[in-house]
Amino acid sequence: MHRGKGMKFVGDSRISAERKHNIPKDYSEYPGRTEAFWPNFLLKEWLVGSVFLVGFLSLTLAHPSPLEGVADPTDAAYVPLPDWYFLFLYELLKYDFASGPYTLMGIIVIPGLAFGALLLAPFLDNGPGRRPYQRPIAVGMMLLAVTSVIWLTYESAAHVDWETRAEQNKPIHPDEQVNIDTEDPGFAIYESNCLSCHGDDLSGGGAGPSLIGIDRSAEEIATIATDGVGSMPADQFTGSDEELDQLVEFIMSVNEE
Ligand code: HEC
Repeated sequence: MHRGKGMKFVGDSRISAERKHNIPKDYSEYPGRTEAFWPNFLLKEWLVGSVFLVGFLSLTLAHPSPLEGVADPTDAAYVPLPDWYFLFLYELLKYDFASGPYTLMGIIVIPGLAFGALLLAPFLDNGPGRRPYQRPIAVGMMLLAVTSVIWLTYESAAHVDWETRAEQNKPIHPDEQVNIDTEDPGFAIYESNCLSCHGDDLSGGGAGPSLIGIDRSAEEIATIATDGVGSMPADQFTGSDEELDQLVEFIMSVNEE
């Protein structure tokens, strides 16, 4: 009895006849210049990444980025500008071929082509060489992109009066941002007695310091309101004891936030 005699073998097209092993290319001609992607390389990448991430997080916590000044809707002369890293796109829209009826050109087609070319870069230039002169297409594309971005940013920035802008846009330090409840009965009392020196948002004015974030008890504030302190003259507050309570409560409430 011959086993298997007359049996037919049917091929499975999904399995290749020559079995290819999942073995990486032999890089032994570059001793010491190759390493496994997983986990060695990925671990290193991840470590560097987390150092930067934690660094940036600590920096933003220690120095919160200030907000620009409050927008002034009555100022029609104010020209809003994008942040510096988008100035080049903004400048592009000033050219005739990218503005007016051709705005689509400026906002979609040209940037689309430029960023699309980035995706194509590996296919346009896939030579093995690593030196710049061996990769003229990739290097050419990069130089073109870098010079246009730098040129457009420079052109845009050169025509802005940055000092005036900075003055108009004075940053609001996060510590000094408080929500002033102008409906509070204490605000009306503050308005008529103290606002002229301490500012309409309590952040200080010409004559008086900021009343935000001060380390004073309610009693102290009440005393200061009537007796003054340092260079603040006495008798600034005029009104009933009840109004004084409301005023002090209002100032305390701003400081509790
Ligand atoms: C004429 C301007 C003027 C007016 C009006 C005024 N202040 Fe003052 N205030 C000052 C000046 C100036 C100081 C700083 C005093 C110093 O430290 O030498 C000050 C300081 C203070 C302080 C202490 C701030 C701190 O850092 O501890 C408080 C609290 C205060 N004012 C509350 C009031 C209240 C409440 C009113 C309204 C009833 C008022 N002030 C009205 C000028 C004014």
